[in-house]
Amino acid sequence: MKAVTWQGRMDMQVVEVPDPVIEDPTDVVVEITSTGLCGSDLHLYDPLTPFMNPGDVVGHEPMGIVREVGSAVATLQAGDRVVVPFNVSCGSCWMCERGLFSQCETTQNRDTGTGASLFGYSKLYGQVPGGQAEMLRVPFADTLPIKVPHGPPDDRFLFLSDVLPTAWQAVEYADVEDDGTLLVIGAGPIGDMSARIAMHRGLRVIVVDSVRERLARVHGQGAETIDHSELDGIGDRVRELTDGRGADAVIDAVGMEAHGSPVAETAQKALALLPKKVQEKVMLTFGSDRLAALMSAIDAVRRGGTISVSGVYGGSTDPLPMFQLFDKQVQVRMGQANVRRWSDEILALLQQDDDVLGVESFATHHLPLEDAPEAYRKFRDKEDGMVKVVFTP
Ligand SMILES: NC(=O)c1ccc[n+]([C@@H]2O[C@H](COP(=O)([O-])OP(=O)(O)OC[C@H]3O[C@@H](n4cnc5c(N)ncnc54)[C@H](O)[C@@H]3O)[C@@H](O)[C@H]2O)c1
Ligand SMILES: [Zn+2]
Ligand SMILES: [Zn+2]
Repeated sequence: MKAVTWQGRMDMQVVEVPDPVIEDPTDVVVEITSTGLCGSDLHLYDPLTPFMNPGDVVGHEPMGIVREVGSAVATLQAGDRVVVPFNVSCGSCWMCERGLFSQCETTQNRDTGTGASLFGYSKLYGQVPGGQAEMLRVPFADTLPIKVPHGPPDDRFLFLSDVLPTAWQAVEYADVEDDGTLLVIGAGPIGDMSARIAMHRGLRVIVVDSVRERLARVHGQGAETIDHSELDGIGDRVRELTDGRGADAVIDAVGMEAHGSPVAETAQKALALLPKKVQEKVMLTFGSDRLAALMSAIDAVRRGGTISVSGVYGGSTDPLPMFQLFDKQVQVRMGQANVRRWSDEILALLQQDDDVLGVESFATHHLPLEDAPEAYRKFRDKEDGMVKVVFTP
């Protein structure tokens, strides 16, 4: 089959790889009909390079049709339509029972000290072949895949794999009272969808980014916007808009590749010049994140407010303003989305006749898998009004 593979720093290639097969009786093999490109894939493209091997199949936002079914699978049949969550979670361990699917103890990576395995996401997360491919092996088939009805277009359900539960969890963790104000930093797919979900719940939402067409998109959905390329301090502007107090909660939907962190950006680039083994150690031992978005969140949140971090960070000695966090009495919540914790609730919303979150028009680009190498570059550089790409293998 054809698959998108990592071949080197900023080098994705579509190549022929062996078809996946049933390995455990609880597996299914899914023929992929749509598969998303995510901001998280961009970390593999560049900063997480030390944890990738040439040939790794990437992608973690797939859906499709079940083609082969393992002998122990009870609830799925060939022909069923499923969305595959990005975390590989067993559904029955201590963590999964508590809704902490991204910490699944069956697939946790104890050798690298990381949480549940993820599809297509480096040695740090189990090196599981990913879903930007024509076919995908999916384990724990009775609990992991989300069965969806036939009929509506793929885009109605596809974002259940990642964008929707990630944004949903970001809003849940932000925990804003009914008449409160939520600030969303970053208007990529995750920030955009977080804003939509929060507005659907009746919250006042302000979104910050510097990419005009991304701001225009969320403005079109009803959010207030701040273009941070036009001002120095996001915090001051947010306080102006909130009676001098700051936002009740802030979602950081940016993560480690934030613009406006020149020192860390230089460090990330210097890291790329070191031998691979050394890169791994340096990355996990020293700070290498770009913290601009998180710093803005700490500044813009009100005293006693909450910061909900959905952007991915990767360093371990990043300097944080502990005095300011402590003095402002800030709560910080974060983590990979626990997809299965939220997916049933979201699916019920998606099955309503009207597309309340606008998922069917959410993707800006539908492209064949062959276009992946160029799409990665354009998505990173935010060219062509590209916000969300869906590949159709
Ligand atoms: N927690 C999870 O489970 C989970 C799941 C999916 C994605 N993510 C992470 O969420 C983040 C966003 O993903 P995405 O797909 O929306 O990516 P994206 O790269 O398309 O979006 C990031 C946006 O942030 C903006 N930005 C950059 N620096 C900024 C700054 N200093 N202030 C304000 N805006 C800034 C960029 O212009 C861009 O529009 C990534 O870090 C991704 O890895 C996390
Ligand atoms: Zn994703
Ligand atoms: Zn589990």
